[in-house]
Amino acid sequence: MANFSVLQLSISVNRQKGRNMDWIPTARSTHLPLRICLIVLLLSLSGCAGSQSILDPAGIQAERIASLFWWMFGGGMLIWIGVVALAGYVIKVRPGKHQPVKSQWLIIGGGVVFPALVLTALLIFGLSIMPETRPGEGERTDIRISVAGEQWWWRVHYQTDNGESVELANEIRLPVGRTALFELTSTNVIHSFWIPALGGKVDMIPGRTNRLLLEPTRTGTFQGACAEYCGTSHAFMRFRVQVMEQQAFDQWLAAQAQPAHTPTTPEAREGRRVFMSNGCASCHTIRGTAADGQRGPDLTHVGSRLSLAAGTLPMAPESFTHWIGHTRDIKPGVVMPRFEVLGQEKLEALAAYLTSLE
Ligand code: CUA
Repeated sequence: MANFSVLQLSISVNRQKGRNMDWIPTARSTHLPLRICLIVLLLSLSGCAGSQSILDPAGIQAERIASLFWWMFGGGMLIWIGVVALAGYVIKVRPGKHQPVKSQWLIIGGGVVFPALVLTALLIFGLSIMPETRPGEGERTDIRISVAGEQWWWRVHYQTDNGESVELANEIRLPVGRTALFELTSTNVIHSFWIPALGGKVDMIPGRTNRLLLEPTRTGTFQGACAEYCGTSHAFMRFRVQVMEQQAFDQWLAAQAQPAHTPTTPEAREGRRVFMSNGCASCHTIRGTAADGQRGPDLTHVGSRLSLAAGTLPMAPESFTHWIGHTRDIKPGVVMPRFEVLGQEKLEALAAYLTSLE
């Protein structure tokens, strides 16, 4: 409000001096547009929080990136206000000829020297953040995870302390307060690994392994996404990240390393039979069974995941029947064919089996 009082004061002083101030909107005329602007601004603020916001950081690297954003935003606002004030001054307050020497200094100073200084300062600040997100060779980290970008899902490998590799898909869990080293690859096209609340984004390039260090600072569930256009269903290439206490994480990883549970209900047993006799096993692995396909996601503990089809559907038996029956309607271009032909009964049995794989 103080700014408006100053604005009104300056308008009335200039009007008294006989200057034409009609270009500045009066308080009454700004009333409605101002209200609309304030409402839009308040609504847009809701995008600053949440599980997929860089402005609501939940990790050390994300905090640094958020601070870089706020410095850029604050600096950008100051420069914008300065430029607009200057433009207003030369157009309306003191129009007419200005001294050529002064104008030249303004152009060189404001148009060359000042931007060069600002951009250099931002570059130095940005470069100073990089070592925190890019680990050096042989750096000690608490946990190592490799993630490969597939079309359009995420193949995730955990390296356990005893040298074992546990494969899962479309979900990452991390212990809070521990550093996690991500090794990012792709076997097809370029994807980009991004968990806005924790850090990133880093490209996943075929033939290369890029490394990323993340250290979450609070527990919670966060959204990850592919940030590089990678084909028809790029927009459906998401994943969840759950940050947990160390003990809960250890239990979760130990459970993921186990072979699949044996189905206990008749419907789930029928689901397993449908799975094994309709070619599912040639594309998917379920550890502890004959299914050892490598093309699609590992389904050993698919029932324990937070979502289905790379963050596209909530985890529920109905999601399995919907997904298996209509893969290509839900995710255009996906490799897995639609299995509507199986019929509702078999799809429901499959769903019961897969849901039981916790
Ligand atoms: Cu993967 Cu976009």
